[in-house]
Amino acid sequence: MDFSKDLTVLILAAGKGKRMKSEIPKVLHQISGQPILHYVLSSALKLCPKNVFAVADNKKESVSGYIKENFPRVKVIVQEKQQGTAHAVLTVKKQKEDFGKYILILPGDSPLIRMGTLEELIENKIGSGSAACLVTSLVPDPRGYGRIIKNKGGSIVKIVEDADATAEEKKISEINSSIYCFDTAVLFNNIEKIKTDNIQKEYYLTDVIELLIRNGKKVSCLIATDYREVMGINDRIQLSAAEDVMRKRINRILTETGVTIRNPDSCCIESSVIIDRDVVIEPSCFIKGKTRIAKNSRIGPFSQIADTEIGESSSINASVIIGSVIGRNNNIGPYSYIRPGTVTGNNVKIEASSVTVNYDGFSKSKTIIGDDVFIGSDTMLIAPVKIGNGAVVAAGSVIYQDVPSNYLAIERGGQKNIKNGAVRYRDRKKLKNTKE
Ligand code: UD1
Ligand code: CA
Repeated sequence: MDFSKDLTVLILAAGKGKRMKSEIPKVLHQISGQPILHYVLSSALKLCPKNVFAVADNKKESVSGYIKENFPRVKVIVQEKQQGTAHAVLTVKKQKEDFGKYILILPGDSPLIRMGTLEELIENKIGSGSAACLVTSLVPDPRGYGRIIKNKGGSIVKIVEDADATAEEKKISEINSSIYCFDTAVLFNNIEKIKTDNIQKEYYLTDVIELLIRNGKKVSCLIATDYREVMGINDRIQLSAAEDVMRKRINRILTETGVTIRNPDSCCIESSVIIDRDVVIEPSCFIKGKTRIAKNSRIGPFSQIADTEIGESSSINASVIIGSVIGRNNNIGPYSYIRPGTVTGNNVKIEASSVTVNYDGFSKSKTIIGDDVFIGSDTMLIAPVKIGNGAVVAAGSVIYQDVPSNYLAIERGGQKNIKNGAVRYRDRKKLKNTKE
């Protein structure tokens, strides 16, 4: 069914987000490396609708700034004062002529909804001839959500918010996801009739459902079988629960495409990371940002990699790599720290305890190491410095001059071996201990 040219998506992303107890707007809190809103906006755009609108508040550097910068196709409408979800929908009333027949409403705080469910919702709405269709789900803990009140025949009658529900209604485990598809005209003909006669003194979008049903319109429900898809984020407990679901989802997708993740519960991989087939991720790895890992590489255990490209068949063990480009067949770690801007060639081996000393307190300089170089343990390479191809640097050296190609560089203080020195040392210690 091609509904895209008749569809507008409206994302509700203003709201106070009081329960997060934060200076940051709720929908900009991150899960798996992206703001909550990123996932909602991405799903909206994937539907290829006629328009995408987002309702945002007018605070500086806030939600509207984020949307304009990252999702320029999305039109932002400011809701000056947040008076409830129906009030948020009313802020786009002036634009309604451009909307097309159907409007899909998404809450900005529910990032886990799947594309397939959104498509099913729209198809269900159009196919069933309903004026509105909403996604509901049966959840193990319905606290905080609006409950779906149905009649004996199993049809929806109304939605009751948690704050307004009776003890009996609170026992209902079918909840409102806040994801709806409406006939645009029907929605805007009714939304202004909503009042604030509830505990929170807000304009509830949920009240439109009861209004439509009372006016003889057909409203249908699509029950999402996986309740995790409709989880809303209102506080930090729900934030970490949603991140847990997202992390598992990302790991699962990677596994399905041919990546081995040995202990997925201990690995956090952001959705922006690209990993090729036959890569093995050992336990306790954090892989973030614009990282790409080429085939047959082995990462971890205990590695953190951010914004880095790793070439084929490389192995990274218990190391931190940031903003670097690692060549093919590298062997890095254990315990290496690869700083931003590092570029390694192919077949490079880096272990612990040698340092490219790049900062003199004023400026940063480069260390360039040629091909087939051997750098012994515990070497300090004081930049700017260049080690020519095939050179060998002896362990423990402090290198501050360029080493020509195929030279051996050694820089050490002289060594003295003192006969019986150790015996005299121990005697002195014994004496000290008896005095104490
Ligand atoms: C809402 C639903 C509830 C549902 C739950 C699902 C209402 C009245 N209640 O409750 O039935 O079970 O979502 O998660 O709709 N927003 C605005 N402007 C406002 C108020 C809210 O843009 O004036 C936005 C918020 O940023 C948020 C979304 O609308 O993304 C939902 O608002 P929220 O306050 O989180 O509603 P809930 O109490 O979770
Ligand atoms: Ca919510």
